[in-house]
Amino acid sequence: MYTEKVMDHFQNPRNVGEIENASGTGTVGNAKCGDIMRIYLDIDENQVIRDVKFKTFGCGAAVATSSMATEMVKGKTVQEAMEVTNKAVMEALDGLPPVKVHCSLLAEEAIHAALWDYAQKNGITIEGLEKPKSDISDHDEEEEY
Ligand code: FES
Repeated sequence: MYTEKVMDHFQNPRNVGEIENASGTGTVGNAKCGDIMRIYLDIDENQVIRDVKFKTFGCGAAVATSSMATEMVKGKTVQEAMEVTNKAVMEALDGLPPVKVHCSLLAEEAIHAALWDYAQKNGITIEGLEKPKSDISDHDEEEEY
């Protein structure tokens, strides 16, 4: 039921770890399943994401989507990173089973939370970025797919 790409990113997740003195960190959780995701961003003076790491206490789909999402935002500007939505990540993974779609939101929300932290620290505005929620289970899942 999982695609090869999902299995690959689950078994060999990229960018696991943490970044000391990160430019921005974001932690989000899903109260329904209890899973938690933390993302660390290292952003240079040109607002380019130089490095990104994640840590999770989450299910396999959360691991795979975070792994793919971190690969997709690396080397992008903070504005470009806003285009890495959970849908884009799922497409890159050739899809997720419908019951696992909410797991992909954890990665997107954690990246947004880390970008928000970076923006707050540096007094900048990132277009389209909204204040992160700490619990994504408030999300209207039906709307997402
Ligand atoms: Fe909670 Fe997947 S079941 S993130």
